[in-house]
Amino acid sequence: MKQERLDKLLANLGYGSRRDVAAWIKQGLIEVAGKAVKSPSQKVVPDEVLLDGEVLDYPHGLTLIYHKPLGSVCSHKEIGRLIYEDFPERWMHRKPQISSVGRLDKETSGLLILTDDGHLNHFLTSPKHHIAKRYRVQLAQPLQGTEVALFASGTLMLEDDDKPCLPAELDVLSDSEAELTLHEGRYHQVRRMFVAAGNHVEKLTRISIGELTLASTALQPGAYQALHAEAVQRLVSG
Ligand code: URA
Repeated sequence: MKQERLDKLLANLGYGSRRDVAAWIKQGLIEVAGKAVKSPSQKVVPDEVLLDGEVLDYPHGLTLIYHKPLGSVCSHKEIGRLIYEDFPERWMHRKPQISSVGRLDKETSGLLILTDDGHLNHFLTSPKHHIAKRYRVQLAQPLQGTEVALFASGTLMLEDDDKPCLPAELDVLSDSEAELTLHEGRYHQVRRMFVAAGNHVEKLTRISIGELTLASTALQPGAYQALHAEAVQRLVSG
């Protein structure tokens, strides 16, 4: 098992500074493999460390599935309520940092993945991998009947974009409700597609990413669950 310097490990997991670690050692709060630690520079196996009697939080990386609530922003530093306020404060000091895989806008709720694994983040956002994202949409106006063909055509141009949208599947549920599956992720894409179709999105929820559905997670808005990055990759790529 890979060993790391204790003070660096605890700092990178967001527990505290190297100075904090030195103080905890003095107070006898850190044990490794059943023995009190003597020095902050001691090389340790992360799974063997107990801090104040507790094992460390996800020392080998952190990937979450999360039900983003309405009104929160997917950013580390914008003004307003940030999605990161739903997680333990300590996680915000982890290195590498946890980031959302793509973004949902402030007025959109639903399934979001967050990870500190840069490769997983890149894999899930790359248009090359065509991971389907499905949205439930409530519209201000009744559908006109032309939208299914328009969105499937691969010719729909959105304002300010220089390439047409990839073909997308629209399943109509009622006059003013539908589910839309996208294979790319442009800025406010669902809302802009319906604007291009002469409508307005009133309510938007992401209900799945690849094979992973919000319903199967049973997560309430604001709730999250940590998963191994490999489990998320398997779930999402089917
Ligand atoms: N499309 C949007 O318009 N908003 C989102 O948050 C995601 C997709």
